[in-house]
Amino acid sequence: MSNLFYQSRQPRPFLDRGEGIYLYDVDGKRYIDGSSGAMVSNIGHSNPRVLAAMQAQMARATFGYRLHFRTEPSEALATKTASLMPEGLDRVFFVSGGSEAVESAIKLARQYALTQGQGSRWKVISRFPSYHGCTLGALALTGYDPLARPFDPMMRDMPKIAAPTTYLDRDNLTEAERGLKYAELLRDEILAQGPDSVLAFIMEPVGGASTGALVAPDSYYGRIREICDEFGILLIYDEVMTGAGRTGKFLAAEHWGITPDIVALSKGFAAGYAPLGAMVARGDIVEAVLDAGGFLHGFTYAGNPLACAAGLAVIDEIERAGLVENAARMGAVLKARLEGLMVRYPFIGDVRGLGLLLAFEMVSDRETMEPLPPSLNAHSRLVDLAYERGLIIYSRRTRGGITGDHFMIAPPLIITEAQIDEMMALLTDALDAFALEAGLAVAA
Ligand SMILES: Cc1ncc(COP(=O)(O)O)c(C=O)c1O
Repeated sequence: MSNLFYQSRQPRPFLDRGEGIYLYDVDGKRYIDGSSGAMVSNIGHSNPRVLAAMQAQMARATFGYRLHFRTEPSEALATKTASLMPEGLDRVFFVSGGSEAVESAIKLARQYALTQGQGSRWKVISRFPSYHGCTLGALALTGYDPLARPFDPMMRDMPKIAAPTTYLDRDNLTEAERGLKYAELLRDEILAQGPDSVLAFIMEPVGGASTGALVAPDSYYGRIREICDEFGILLIYDEVMTGAGRTGKFLAAEHWGITPDIVALSKGFAAGYAPLGAMVARGDIVEAVLDAGGFLHGFTYAGNPLACAAGLAVIDEIERAGLVENAARMGAVLKARLEGLMVRYPFIGDVRGLGLLLAFEMVSDRETMEPLPPSLNAHSRLVDLAYERGLIIYSRRTRGGITGDHFMIAPPLIITEAQIDEMMALLTDALDAFALEAGLAVAA
């Protein structure tokens, strides 16, 4: 019995230390961090350059309240972050995590609408499934029933459109046509809601834990931008998981040349060295809000100098070690290895993702993409079997959190090809054990 509690009673060993892609428990057992925690530890654990930068900042000051002082790390990190964004996204607002970044984005969007004389706009359309955070504002945008439904009476319902799950579609359309078909759902929803009531559309450019690294057809991204422009609706990219190099570009938006109006960052942004996130917005949006009296929003720890020193050192390390490029290169290697698993395991129905944000989904029938029976509890069993073998992976139920089983494979961006081999050996062993236990056929 512990005084500490989180979501469940699941017992886990005490962490001793981390080193690169590895974590060690207090009994000396080694684990490959195959999901970078919750897709956080992008530069690996215990990076000496980041630790040294944090120690140097700690010796000067660990806190300076933003209404009393500017701090060098927060100014420098804002400048650096703006330099990595698409043209025009140059104003940075610091927070301590992803949910806070999303809350900040929708509140800035709302205040901007007010400055434009558009007080009727308040609805933020999002996708189903999706994940945008656990605070009530971000949860209202989240399309994941088990997490959201119990809180319905406490939230303002926000409209959802279907996420572009084209891998499930059995039609005669090309991928490009499917992308456009899913994008048109946004247009339909805006018209159904009344364009004057819609404030913004928020999307994860590559899906995270709720969909298992879902990537839309290329045609989707540009069309979504056009639709938002047609109705004067702000486009918010939730890059909390995809940002900071995870998909093989600093922002996933770069894959399609999209400039969103607001971006939410966290996770890999400080890579677990400090709780940090950011909302980055178009300069004219921020100026309009500041001119009208100021942004009515802020968190006590915003711009914490220690967290910002960590964030700055993490970005330096991403650039020094070429980790964005490594994510693209190793992502391609790892994706091919995961696709190779489909030969041996007929119950793997899809492998998807971009860079080192990858996932595979289990099904009972590849033709119909029918999920495995929920009673097999595949999403938790395979994670446990891998954990026993010293491999950490991350899973969720795929279809809105109710059925389906997918597994995120998202190691730190520093991973080497030899370490991918090591990871795949453990994963194959765990999959064999799962197939045996679940009575699922395996090819010889
Ligand atoms: C896309 C996305 N947005 C927001 C969040 C919420 O971030 P946090 O848990 O740091 O509040 C997450 C976390 O998983 C996420 O993946």
